[in-house]
Amino acid sequence: MQFFNKTAPIGIFDSGIGGLTVAKRIISMLPNENIIYFGDTARVPYGSKSNTTVIEYAIQDAQFLINKNVKLIIVACNTASSVALESLQKKYDIPVIGMIEPGAKLALDKTKNRRIGVIGTYSTINNKAYSEQLKELDSEITVFEKACPLFVPIAEEGWLDHEATKLVAKEYLQDFIDADVDTLILGCTHYPLLSEIIQNIMGEKVTLIDSGFAASHQVEDYLKGRGVRNDSVQIGTHHFYVSDLPDKFKSMAERFLGSEVKHIEKIDVETLITH
Ligand code: DGL
Repeated sequence: MQFFNKTAPIGIFDSGIGGLTVAKRIISMLPNENIIYFGDTARVPYGSKSNTTVIEYAIQDAQFLINKNVKLIIVACNTASSVALESLQKKYDIPVIGMIEPGAKLALDKTKNRRIGVIGTYSTINNKAYSEQLKELDSEITVFEKACPLFVPIAEEGWLDHEATKLVAKEYLQDFIDADVDTLILGCTHYPLLSEIIQNIMGEKVTLIDSGFAASHQVEDYLKGRGVRNDSVQIGTHHFYVSDLPDKFKSMAERFLGSEVKHIEKIDVETLITH
């Protein structure tokens, strides 16, 4: 396994803005790390595309970060983690960390009645990414899964406390209440933004799992374990790249992160394809 120097940035990519929920976790957990974030805003959503297309896009996104000399890649997108993680790990020498395994492990850690629910995009659910991972780790576990595609545009619209969101959430989540799950994996980058509404509907006894949070711990352990944490006393720099609509990204990112986004650049999809 090849490592770059400690001050090399951590690379994070997502299909768009959703991965900022993961970036936020990394920034608060590892404030001294430099970060390069790529959001493929020109080709979002990934969650309704074929596996072949998502793998192709994910390799291009990761290659963009590799060209920036990152020391580790976080696949913040659950859809890309579901279908492309293995291809990325085979292709690159540096560590590539996805959302599925950390999220599944945390869920298994929290459940008491061994009944776990999973919500995600069509792709994540149809590929059974979480259920297979959960069953691999614990063959006795009972898993209930459902795609909740409307949560993505709702979160992007900023309807985090809207009546329409409550109605949609009730419709999606009733099956999990009926199934008596005590743990629910938020298997999509955007869903942690709706966690208040989801928690209210599921009730206080149900533990919500934010895979980005779980993955951030894995990243921290990884860097610590190999002695490649950035030990600079300076706060890290955060550079954001998108493939379309940088102004829209900037305002949403500032809302998500709760701080000013200074460095943002648009890159052409063409350059991703040819590199
Ligand atoms: N980032 C995606 C995920 O976590 C959601 C948005 C999309 O479909 O691209 O699955």
